[in-house]
Amino acid sequence: MLKGDKIYLRAVELEDARIISAWLNDRETNINLDIIYPLSRRYADSYVLSSDEESNKKIFVIDNQDHKPIGLLIVDKIKWEYRNCEIGIVIYDKSQRGKGLGKDAMKTALDFIFNEMNMNLVYLNVLSDNKIAINMYRKLGFEFEGELRDRVYKNGKYLNIIAMSKKREEGI
Ligand SMILES: CC(C)(COP(=O)(O)OP(=O)(O)OC[C@H]1O[C@@H](n2cnc3c(N)ncnc32)[C@H](O)[C@@H]1OP(=O)(O)O)[C@@H](O)C(=O)NCCC(=O)NCCS
Repeated sequence: MLKGDKIYLRAVELEDARIISAWLNDRETNINLDIIYPLSRRYADSYVLSSDEESNKKIFVIDNQDHKPIGLLIVDKIKWEYRNCEIGIVIYDKSQRGKGLGKDAMKTALDFIFNEMNMNLVYLNVLSDNKIAINMYRKLGFEFEGELRDRVYKNGKYLNIIAMSKKREEGI
């Protein structure tokens, strides 16, 4: 288990599949994510298992200080040869947003990714209208890399994707 100032990052367990299934079907949150269709409980089970079975993916459950699960932090597309990977974060428990937990989870994960997993660069994609997430990534030192036009369609509108990244040498 990884300990931050305000959160814990721990391995995802099969017992988490029930809450993860509910989280993955939260349409309000999915407006910010690349999830379109309702997802089955079987999908949630296989998603949980993928963290152990796939060498290029690690899924962490974010627990708050009371050890209550509040979200997920995903390290994906790990390219061990190039030493880069993608990062994603969602605080699914809306009552826990805006309290510094997302930023602390990201900081804790970045420290682990650079100093334990020995990655050189971490990248992410964010929808251009997701100002909260973009603010957070900027505060964490992620650099703007470019904007991809009309890559996503949500709520009857095309949206751009912003690509950002952070290198190890830039510090946490
Ligand atoms: C984006 C998300 C992970 C941020 O986590 P959080 O715990 O709510 O954010 P924090 O309280 O740690 O705040 C981190 C930074 O985000 C920004 N932020 C947070 N709430 C904000 C708000 N209401 N308005 C503007 N910026 C805000 C600030 O820059 C803040 O840093 P600061 O506190 O030093 O000013 C969370 O809101 C979430 O899960 N959203 C839905 C899913 C999502 O969009 N995921 C990202 C997909 S790319």
